[in-house]
Amino acid sequence: MEPWSVVRPSLGSLVERRYGRRGLLLGAASALPMLAACRGPRGARRTGATRFAPVPPSSGDDVVVPEGHVAEVLLSWGDPLVAGAPPFDPAAQSAARQRLQFGFNCDWNGFLPLVGRSSEEGLLCVNHESVSPGEMFGGDASGDEARERFEIQLAAHGMSIAHVVRDREGIYRVRVGAPLARRVTGETPMRFDGPAAGSDLLGTSGDPSGRRPVGMLGNCGGGRTPWGTVLTCEENFDEYFANVDAAPDAEFRAALRRYDVKNASVYGFEAFDPRFDVAREPNEPHRFGWVVEIDPFDPSTSPVKHTALGRVKHEAAATTLAKDGRAVVYTADDEEFEYVYKFTSDRVYRPDDRAANRALLASGTLHVAVFEADGTGRWVPLVPVGPLADWSPARIAVHTRAAADLVGATPMDRPEDFEVGPGGRAYVCLTKNTKRENGDGAANPRARNASGHVVEIEEDGGDPGSTRFRWNVLALFGDPAVDASVSWAGCDGAAPVAAACPDNVAVDRSGDLWIATDGQPSAIGTNDALWFVPSSGEERGVPRRFLTGPIGAEITGPEFAPDERTLFLSIQHPGEGGGLATPTSSWPHDGTGVPRPSVVTVRRRDGERLT
Ligand code: FEO
Ligand code: CA
Ligand code: CA
Ligand code: CA
Repeated sequence: MEPWSVVRPSLGSLVERRYGRRGLLLGAASALPMLAACRGPRGARRTGATRFAPVPPSSGDDVVVPEGHVAEVLLSWGDPLVAGAPPFDPAAQSAARQRLQFGFNCDWNGFLPLVGRSSEEGLLCVNHESVSPGEMFGGDASGDEARERFEIQLAAHGMSIAHVVRDREGIYRVRVGAPLARRVTGETPMRFDGPAAGSDLLGTSGDPSGRRPVGMLGNCGGGRTPWGTVLTCEENFDEYFANVDAAPDAEFRAALRRYDVKNASVYGFEAFDPRFDVAREPNEPHRFGWVVEIDPFDPSTSPVKHTALGRVKHEAAATTLAKDGRAVVYTADDEEFEYVYKFTSDRVYRPDDRAANRALLASGTLHVAVFEADGTGRWVPLVPVGPLADWSPARIAVHTRAAADLVGATPMDRPEDFEVGPGGRAYVCLTKNTKRENGDGAANPRARNASGHVVEIEEDGGDPGSTRFRWNVLALFGDPAVDASVSWAGCDGAAPVAAACPDNVAVDRSGDLWIATDGQPSAIGTNDALWFVPSSGEERGVPRRFLTGPIGAEITGPEFAPDERTLFLSIQHPGEGGGLATPTSSWPHDGTGVPRPSVVTVRRRDGERLT
């Protein structure tokens, strides 16, 4: 039996469920959330927890997996991908080479089978969120070399689509130059659809129509759709733009600053392309921060930026279907005190009409979440009524954060990945928020939240299309040895462990979570990891360490092959901050002498399911 189907709890039991009995006894003022991590019903259900012995925490420069498992590198930065791609040579890198090779800082992974649900052969779609110039190039550059480096960086962003085939030993190999192998980059022509397409807010001197954006940047999380496309999310787009003070007026400047656009960019691209200079192209930052749909099976189609899903620092795009067949996309805005969102399409999914499905996300309703302290919640539509009565749909789409402010959305502790579970459940990782001075008494219960937590949403009636839900905290990350609010140490059979900063998540066929972290080195002093976190049973909410990563790397993009015999995941920015002159990591130790962001696969040596 699933814990949430036992009874509809009273308010008192809801508080206990949310904060635990000890939190109640301490009184409301000191009611740090005592997570009832062991609250699930006891059952003999086999979970992944019985399938592997946890690995120890690591400070080493390797990927470590449990006994009986093996991790193999599938694709690294610079590996040949598209026909004609040259081999990786860090001393001879060029934009022309990079456009044909696997990009940098890999993040989300999506595996799309080529036939049915077969795991044997498919397209692996991989986001390239960012670049790390210090780890890509040696020393400073000027003139033509500096321009070449700018173009390399644009080409190292975006997405790689790799054709992968599993061999008899269970190891995936890349078919370099396969017809569907493809790079999408910061230079790829795209189009807008939805309410803001063609609006004055999106027009630039290069594209007065406001319909033809160029490139995607900051693509972090993502998701597969039921109709066989992928959604990829532009996150920290502010980092590419400079000179906010030169924007046309105070209101315009404030709107850009709401997304952290500053005078100084992180990457300095404005020196090479005026579109990254707000003084010259004030609308260009409006053309980033979108959920982008790509059809990996049809390279002739342009990627589409769906303005109906709003413009935020999108981390996730988890798609499912409402009971009436409408498409539902959960997405999140990864910044302190920002919001979680849900889009519902106007039209319904049609299993036999792929072209119609590819247009599903062009029109619908974007909602933002309000979490109440009593464990209920509402999805509030962002539509031109009430406080938004004088807003146009285009303005709501482009200035989504400000629209959500006006309807009273709940500020969250940096919402990262969202994933759909069985039975109308969804999970969102709140990675951390040390700026929160006091807990909100609801879904963000902890002050100075340095370790993050995971919230479980149960849609009313088990229907993802519902506008009401219940919520509870599945897991409150931290170090149980130093933080009494972290309660999983006492659970049967589980040794006390410190875990921090949940980021990406995959849900397996049992409904259990596999959570990747980003930030453990600073939060708890050990390398980032992948954790198995049951969603039911007696170890509900108790993390078990499945994998540890190399020095300086965050773990991103866990994705199971359909048969769950292989787990794909990305090792992003190994050796971060070290630079090529004084590297802190040489992972994957492949003889090139440079740390290389890579996708790895994990499998059991006996060939059985991981889950
Ligand atoms: Fe790119 Fe929110 O992580
Ligand atoms: Ca992330
Ligand atoms: Ca995910
Ligand atoms: Ca993160």
